[in-house]
Amino acid sequence: MKIARFSQLGFILAAAGSAVGLGNIWKFPYVAGEYGGGAFVLIYLITVIAIGFSVMIAEMLIGYMGRLDSVGSFEKLAPLHKKSWKYAGFMGFTGLLILSFYSVVIGWIFHYIAVSITTLPSTVSEAEQAFTQLLSSDVKTQFFYHTLAFIVITGIVLKGIKGGIEKINYILMPMLVLILGGMFLYASSLDAFSEAVSFMFNPDFSKITSEAIITAVGHAFFTLSLGMASILTYSASLPKQINLSKTSLIIVGLDTGIAIIAGLMLFTFLFEYGAEPSKGPGLVFISLPAVFYEMGSLGNVFAVLFFIGLAFAGLTSAISLLEPMVQYQIDRFDFSRMKSAFIAGGFFYLLGLVALLANINEYSELLTFGSKNVFDWIDFITASILLPLGGLLMSIFVGFIVPKTQLQAALKSSMSEFGFTLWYFSLRFIVPPALIVVMLNLMSIIGVELIMPMFGVAYLISAVVWLGSI
Ligand code: PFF
Repeated sequence: MKIARFSQLGFILAAAGSAVGLGNIWKFPYVAGEYGGGAFVLIYLITVIAIGFSVMIAEMLIGYMGRLDSVGSFEKLAPLHKKSWKYAGFMGFTGLLILSFYSVVIGWIFHYIAVSITTLPSTVSEAEQAFTQLLSSDVKTQFFYHTLAFIVITGIVLKGIKGGIEKINYILMPMLVLILGGMFLYASSLDAFSEAVSFMFNPDFSKITSEAIITAVGHAFFTLSLGMASILTYSASLPKQINLSKTSLIIVGLDTGIAIIAGLMLFTFLFEYGAEPSKGPGLVFISLPAVFYEMGSLGNVFAVLFFIGLAFAGLTSAISLLEPMVQYQIDRFDFSRMKSAFIAGGFFYLLGLVALLANINEYSELLTFGSKNVFDWIDFITASILLPLGGLLMSIFVGFIVPKTQLQAALKSSMSEFGFTLWYFSLRFIVPPALIVVMLNLMSIIGVELIMPMFGVAYLISAVVWLGSI
């Protein structure tokens, strides 16, 4: 297979572009708000450092050493176990599931760019009404913007690694950093900044419940784009001489830094204008627009810039969610990039329509199962189950299946011997048990003992069925 190679900077921007997304700016502040701030942030930071970093290197290694699509790389690195381990490569399918609701949210953001240019809601209750109306009854607007998001995302991926993915990240990532950096500087000059700092960094340990832990671990995987072959697929196009541990440190650092900057900025604005920190998924769509309105004309400029920045962050992640399946089909079935992008894109587009309809009043009963509707189920199953499961499989694969000597050779210029020993130990004996404990807790919370293996099996079956026989 011929794969165009990223430049070193291009790879860092693309991988950071994948990691920095709606997870950092839309999801992180509201889940942190829901779980009480500091305590949640602490568990999230611990997970990122203790687990995320090791898994990031492992995932990069699989792509870097395999040089193929996700399934092909697993097969190539474990020739003796290739029949079973190739299934782990199908975790790329998770990306299409995530992308279904992710694209709908990018659609809301497009809509809010338009709202910010025209008229912002003047109070929180007006904003809440507008957002609820969009979600629960405005099929047309959501359909239009979800379709637009699908066209943009698929259009970029169509152009390939060099001409599409690398190029767009070169443009959008610096712009995102400028927009967020500028708004953060302004926020840090406001009185409420110190309140935001203590909200985010003063942990109240009574708030640490097992649900908070599961959510924080799931979010760490989600925000770092781990466990579903995005980083793996990008890494197959890495330049040969690259320091993997330094590169992953930069990506993890950028991702965490931007989440914290976005969180501090948002909470400062909310506290400064007396809005609530725990507004759920509507936080940036309800409280924030009303706060921007309060700021006067500067608020309008901020609102437009904020939603444009959020759209950029979302798009650079969305393309990384689509690329693994696109690359897989190209390698495996010899599809053209065009055909592959339309098949994978079509899948997330259609599933996205179902997710979108699940929030609409007329269909919500039909599309609600148990406590959640389809939209929330996809979010929950992917972030809290499939991504940690993908991370678990990757750590076991690199820790126990790929020969140690091959890993040492690949990491020779990236780590000292001691560094390697630590990383290898953590990957084998810390990461898998930690993930298993967290995932088992999940079962006791939702009270269905067999849910994890069931989801695992169902996921593999649907992936295999969808992909056709190999
Ligand atoms: N990391 C992205 C975010 O924080 O929004 C979402 C994401 C992208 C998750 C790619 C998983 C992935 F493979």
